[in-house]
Amino acid sequence: MSATIQYSSEKLTIPKLLEKKIQKETITCLTAYDYPFARILDEAGIDILLVGDSLGMTRLGYESTLPVTLAEIMVHLRAVRRAVRRALLVADMPYGSYHVGAKSAVKNALRFIKEGGAEAVKIEGGRKRCRLVERLVEAEIPVMGHIGLTPQSVHFMGGYKVQGKTPQTAEALLEDALILQESGAFSVVLEGIPQEVAGKITRELRIPTIGIGAGIHCDGQILVTDDLLGLSFSPKPKFVRQYANLKETISSAVRKFMGESRTGSFPGREESYHLIADPASKVLVKHGAGR
Ligand code: KIV
Repeated sequence: MSATIQYSSEKLTIPKLLEKKIQKETITCLTAYDYPFARILDEAGIDILLVGDSLGMTRLGYESTLPVTLAEIMVHLRAVRRAVRRALLVADMPYGSYHVGAKSAVKNALRFIKEGGAEAVKIEGGRKRCRLVERLVEAEIPVMGHIGLTPQSVHFMGGYKVQGKTPQTAEALLEDALILQESGAFSVVLEGIPQEVAGKITRELRIPTIGIGAGIHCDGQILVTDDLLGLSFSPKPKFVRQYANLKETISSAVRKFMGESRTGSFPGREESYHLIADPASKVLVKHGAGR
């Protein structure tokens, strides 16, 4: 089987993302957790791939992102790295990997860059992360911020609730975004906030905003790939548009395989190896090559 990767266009870099904001070109971003999906998304031309801690729910069967470990992200990051040629590859710092001191946070982020091949890391939180963002940037680690509905703060928020609904909380979100920008973040994810608030933040920032449940005024959009493809088992959030139903596609293919195996119509003659007579030696030899 060929391992040739099709390049859809030139490599996405952080300066090119900043340029996209200036040119008002929408930035597209999806999550990726493994080699085949990452390769398909990269070849389709996605701008940013995030190995998100949503991995916990989408692929590992956890109920929240909180149990996800650095080691789990690392395994998936390395698989994605092997597939990605064009997109900017961002690794999510899981809960606990940047909360017990800047030194260990920088050390963990460096591992994602050096061992995992990430080109940037994402951390959740606004002003309370400003010193950490500075430390990471000093260590040449590009940082994507993430504010609004930050799933790692689920207990503080009392559930996965839309944030920034009052003038005070909306203003606080804008300040958080500006502080992250001044600390050196190259972009910021805006999750679960009213689109008017996201629009204001987007207009005020020089760096791109990437929205999820934050409306149309962001510089880019991100979705959890499994939600977009109809692979998730959790209830579909309001902001998700499902473009395919892979759960149904997979289930129907598997049911067809089972049925045809049971009736004997699979495997057919052309899917089997055969012995044929060699006229010279009159010996039976194996026919067919490949797997
Ligand atoms: O982990 C994740 O998938 C994320 C995105 C939803 C932004 O953080």
